[in-house]
Amino acid sequence: MGATNGMDGITVNGARLSARLADLAEIGAIPGGGVSRLALTDGDRAGRDKVVGWMRDLGLAVSTDAIGNVVGVRAGTGDGPPVMAGSHIDTVATGGRYDGNLGVLAGLEVIATLNDAGLKTRRPLAVAFFTNEEGARFQPDMLGSLVYVGGLSLDSALNTRAIDGARLGDELMRIGYAGDAPVGAPQIHAYLELHVEQGPVLEEEGIAIGAVEGVQGISWTEFVIEGQSNHAGTTPMRLRRDAGLVAGQIAGFARQLAEEAGGDQGATVGALTLSPNLVNVVAGRAVMTVDLRNTDEAVLQQVEGRLFAFARDAAAAEGVRLSRRTLARFEPVAFDRHLVGRVAGIARDLGLSVRTLPSGAGHDAQMLARVCPAAMIFVPSVKGISHNVQEFTAPEDITAGANVLLRLMLELADPREDSGI
Ligand code: GLV
Ligand code: MN
Ligand code: MN
Repeated sequence: MGATNGMDGITVNGARLSARLADLAEIGAIPGGGVSRLALTDGDRAGRDKVVGWMRDLGLAVSTDAIGNVVGVRAGTGDGPPVMAGSHIDTVATGGRYDGNLGVLAGLEVIATLNDAGLKTRRPLAVAFFTNEEGARFQPDMLGSLVYVGGLSLDSALNTRAIDGARLGDELMRIGYAGDAPVGAPQIHAYLELHVEQGPVLEEEGIAIGAVEGVQGISWTEFVIEGQSNHAGTTPMRLRRDAGLVAGQIAGFARQLAEEAGGDQGATVGALTLSPNLVNVVAGRAVMTVDLRNTDEAVLQQVEGRLFAFARDAAAAEGVRLSRRTLARFEPVAFDRHLVGRVAGIARDLGLSVRTLPSGAGHDAQMLARVCPAAMIFVPSVKGISHNVQEFTAPEDITAGANVLLRLMLELADPREDSGI
């Protein structure tokens, strides 16, 4: 069962998609084959310029909204909201070349394939990239898509401070991506995101395509611990108010919590700064982050509660001050059941092995799911490595994922009576 109107049998040009991925990865390239294009840096601007250039070359009508989300639209033979493919092109500082970039460039490959074939769809098609998906420089993550769907006010988003102190709105102006398109436009008929799995499941099981059922809940907390810096040689242990000790205890407890909760509970202390950070000085201040994730909201809330209580007690026992701030908090999201089923069905029609699975990482699709039917297609990540320069997905897996995306976009943009959307 595939798209109608002579579109069966059409396939993407995998070599062209891989060439675009390699081309974009040259911007912000770092040793080992990775990419560093933190949101709204000069690297991000150069990456955006390149992708916008490709959008224009492909004949898309490009618009940028006030939070810097960029949408390129290909007109349909009819009106109505477009079927959108999207993702992000910002990266973490130690990023790979596939995370996010694949979803955007695969969307462009779908457009290029239809242009080559001279095929029109009834509904318009769109390809989008959203600002600051990674959340590595500005929190929360998925910020641009969250604003797009009305989950965060434009003002709050523009006033967000980066880890380097810069104001998001100023950075957006500086790189020339504070646009004038209305936020949240266009409305979307359905949203699809092709992404690398970033985990080990598909590779371990030898499966080509993941039909993503949903995204786990995300909880990011920053703790600031303030004690007393003092001489490491002369300060008796009984007189210490050691911020470093409490940070270490919180980190150890976070791991213990994840092990006790079992299942797919994750706990990560990804950032920890001690001050003054010297070998012979008791740390007077510690700033740390804890990332907790679970597909089960109730378990996630229990784990958060236990972590916060432990941190409070550990700080009191050491006589240090503790404050905490939520950097991001999103409940688990379920994707549209019909679309998840179509990802699996199309994969099977194409002779590809497929399984359903949840996403461990956050994605723009989880935000778009608030305003339209949304789904994701995963392709295998070698050794499950991501947010690392070694991130790799084989070209044939990329091509397979892009062909599933193409088929589903066609099916949704030129629907048969019984397509269900
Ligand atoms: C964002 O992409 C995350 O899952 O950390
Ligand atoms: Mn991503
Ligand atoms: Mn990422």
